[in-house]
Amino acid sequence: MTYKPNSDRYTLMNYNRCGNSGLLLPAISLGLWHNFGDADNPENFRKIILRAFDLGITHFDLANNYGPPPGSAEINFGKVLNSDLKPFRDELIISTKAGYGMWPGPYGDHGSRKYLLASLDQSLKRMGLEYVDIFYSHRPDPETPVEETMMALNTAIHQGKALYAGISNYDAEQTSRAVKILKELGTPCLIHQPKYNMFERWVEEGLLDTLGKNGIGCIPFSPLAQGLLTNRYLGGIPPGSRISKPHGFLRKDKLTPETIRKISALNEIALGRGQTLARMALLWILKDPRITSVLIGASSVSQLEENFKVLKDESLDEDELVKINRILD
Ligand SMILES: NC(=O)c1ccc[n+]([C@@H]2O[C@H](COP(=O)([O-])OP(=O)(O)OC[C@H]3O[C@@H](n4cnc5c(N)ncnc54)[C@H](OP(=O)(O)O)[C@@H]3O)[C@@H](O)[C@H]2O)c1
Repeated sequence: MTYKPNSDRYTLMNYNRCGNSGLLLPAISLGLWHNFGDADNPENFRKIILRAFDLGITHFDLANNYGPPPGSAEINFGKVLNSDLKPFRDELIISTKAGYGMWPGPYGDHGSRKYLLASLDQSLKRMGLEYVDIFYSHRPDPETPVEETMMALNTAIHQGKALYAGISNYDAEQTSRAVKILKELGTPCLIHQPKYNMFERWVEEGLLDTLGKNGIGCIPFSPLAQGLLTNRYLGGIPPGSRISKPHGFLRKDKLTPETIRKISALNEIALGRGQTLARMALLWILKDPRITSVLIGASSVSQLEENFKVLKDESLDEDELVKINRILD
């Protein structure tokens, strides 16, 4: 059936300016790391993508290696683009990345110019796109001069294969260097994609200040700690959950008694506020004005719809933040 998007979609979402740039990103973005590979149900992931777009989620985040197998998330996203979203390309922000192992030999990993530019060409082919909106260096490479990696991002932009440059997983110091080089090249760094959630707060020790000072957007990934910061595991490990999957990146040993105790205590606070823990965890990240968007994952339309409700939730007050901090300490 021909897809017709919800005509109210842009009244439903909040759009935040990405740093000092001209680009607005939705407060919630959807990532395709898990649940969009060849092992997943195509009808289910098509529904998730289209529901996201209907809710005003304009930004879809990919990487060369998402799947499994690596590359399949881009291929599958390309199929949905082609069948349903093609007329709306100018309403979409599509990102991809290169930085982790993708093909054998010395040129399929890390941060060389050779790898990044070849990988971007492959990503465009897989998705059937002429350009992506954001191209990221997926991680810093200690063996490659950062100048070379940033020059590759700059080239991608000059080739018209990406509109903006981003970096991911760079610490505050590495970020400062990368940002300076990109600025000198005339390609400002648009955005940083770090891991950030209630359980992993390293960005608060310098990175957020660096981004704020330089007018760079921030889009935290795994804001729900891959599902730990939800009610998903409160009654054990459900079949089909990320922990239960053999290729998942969330392992059973993460679910320690101490973590379960923290999740339960956080869940009590969320229930007291009349919301789910998932929403409270997203709200907790979005409280900082330096955050442009939270980059969530979802395995079902219902999870996406639940998380979307955070936009209407009341902010956390000082007392609640203190209580949350006590649990996390
Ligand atoms: N730059 C990088 O290095 C990097 C690394 C990792 C991720 N990312 C990006 O960040 C995106 C998000 O990462 P993530 O998937 O780890 O994010 P996440 O939002 O922390 O976790 C998503 C998972 O949480 C569970 N979930 C979501 N909403 C829920 C709800 N309302 N109730 C119960 N459970 C819920 C689902 O798990 P189940 O599958 O168990 O249902 C879902 O798959 C990725 O897709 C990718 O685009 C980037």
